[in-house]
Amino acid sequence: MNPDLLALRSSPFGALKALLDSIETPAGLTPLSLTIGEPQNQPPGFMKEVLKENDHLYGKYPPVDGSPELRAAIVNWLNRRFDLPTGMIEADRNIVPVNGTKEALYMVAQLLTDRTKTEDKKPTILIPNPYYHVYFGATVMAGAEPVMLDTSADTNFFPDLSLLTDDVLNRCSAFFLCSPSNPQGTIADTEYLSRALKLAKKHDFTLILDECYTEIYDQEAPTGILEICRDLGGSVAQVLTFHSLSKRSSAAGLRSGFIAGDEKLTKALLTLRQFSGAASPLPVCAASAALWNDDNHVALNRTRYKTNMDIAERLLSGRFDFYRPAGGFFLWLNVGDGVEAAKKLWKDAAIRVLPGEYLSTTDENGYNPGAPYIRVAMVFDPEIMEEALSRLANSL
Ligand SMILES: Cc1ncc(COP(=O)(O)O)c(C=O)c1O
Repeated sequence: MNPDLLALRSSPFGALKALLDSIETPAGLTPLSLTIGEPQNQPPGFMKEVLKENDHLYGKYPPVDGSPELRAAIVNWLNRRFDLPTGMIEADRNIVPVNGTKEALYMVAQLLTDRTKTEDKKPTILIPNPYYHVYFGATVMAGAEPVMLDTSADTNFFPDLSLLTDDVLNRCSAFFLCSPSNPQGTIADTEYLSRALKLAKKHDFTLILDECYTEIYDQEAPTGILEICRDLGGSVAQVLTFHSLSKRSSAAGLRSGFIAGDEKLTKALLTLRQFSGAASPLPVCAASAALWNDDNHVALNRTRYKTNMDIAERLLSGRFDFYRPAGGFFLWLNVGDGVEAAKKLWKDAAIRVLPGEYLSTTDENGYNPGAPYIRVAMVFDPEIMEEALSRLANSL
């Protein structure tokens, strides 16, 4: 067995279980878990109808690149959402449908890690710290060196690109960025994304943009990396962007998303996926196409999250460095000591939250940028969020 695997923490949720499972919650209070980024409303009804209409297709092996209808729906959505010119992204050249972006984010590191880039040292993969845990596991299992880039409120919770050294950049195979960011809900602006892309070109690595929260925003639609590519002439070389129906359409259980970008890389990904057998069932492709073709249910979801953020603003403003996240559906609250706050909230208020420490890596000096924070998933209906955040505000 690969010893690197044994040394990995598989997800923040195992650590949370170990922290809280021996603590009893107060009698009479219904426990509320605000830990996982899983929308708690139902996907639109038409998704289930399309699944049913296509259920005769479960007998067929699905093609690795999904169905033509799905790829066309994806391209139409990208063109609508990011105002791209026709032909910049093509259904048969630039799209890989995936079974949720989690598995795809894992697999892409296996593809991109270039062990021949340097002779004596490992290739690097750059990861913002805190981060979505898959980036780290994928990097280690691909045999690359994870380079953790600490973020803070001072840098809009994105890595400071000016701190990257030539040694790290010249060995770099890939750079994971997430916008809107998880856990902080900040958005990378045009200038930041352009700088990151220019670095990728200069040092010959792939820029990976995890944009699975791009449809959930407060005021302005987040800029996507494909808009930057459009403005720089339309080439998507060295860029891969990841999108998902899990958050956009509240369909985490459908396991459906896609990768778009660099033609050479999408082709290679399809080859890799022929071996791993990661193709989406055809009824799922049909339902996914219907979801990407519809924006109304997404607008309703956005309204729901805005209502939840109104509640948060009313109850938490002026405390815990509260800010209204520009995107996504998490609160990132500075409570001083996230682990202690998580224990107290569970013990006194039966509220389960994730300590920021579990979403971040600690450096050799013992510094962990997530340690003062908790992450709160605002994924329930407003009445439940009102109750949960009132308990949180009273307890801390
Ligand atoms: C930042 C980020 N990326 C990717 C994913 C994976 O989503 P899915 O596999 O459901 O598409 C998640 C899920 O929580 C996430 O928070």
